[in-house]
Amino acid sequence: MRRKTTLTLTLLLTLATLSGCAYRYYLGMHGPSIRNTPETHDETLRDDGQCLKCHQPGQSDEAPATTHPGFKGCLNCHQDPKK
Ligand code: HEC
Ligand code: HEC
Repeated sequence: MRRKTTLTLTLLLTLATLSGCAYRYYLGMHGPSIRNTPETHDETLRDDGQCLKCHQPGQSDEAPATTHPGFKGCLNCHQDPKK
């Protein structure tokens, strides 16, 4: 009985730690940076409207659709320095 509890706890802890990595973007709520894809995103991109031309859901087959088209100031969260 006691060993089973320990095992369950260990598994839970492992799960919590692993999924923590997948959600690393939520640390500080910053998203993936466009500086990692300079071929697609250059310095001329400044306005949310420009971003949404490609990232509004349903706009483009190539660009991943944003889950949050209503957010303002895309660049506040999406231009962290290159990894
Ligand atoms: C001309 C179309 C276009 C415009 C404009 C554009 N993007 Fe993208 N974006 C793409 C494509 C295509 C990808 C897929 C990755 C790639 O090919 O670079 C992408 C990928 C991304 C990603 C995912 C990057 C990753 O590493 O997973 C983010 C975040 C993003 N864009 C944000 C933005 C923001 C913010 C703007 C406005 C400043 C913007 N995009 C403007 C086409 C565009
Ligand atoms: C408050 C911070 C914040 C703002 C503002 C913001 N984003 Fe994001 N974005 C995130 C986070 C965090 C993620 C990663 C989690 C997710 O996909 O929801 C993300 C993910 C994305 C992705 C998905 C990348 C992929 O690989 O699937 C795209 C595209 C994107 N954002 C575009 C935009 C656009 C366009 C705007 C402006 C209209 C914007 N974001 C505004 C925080 C933000």
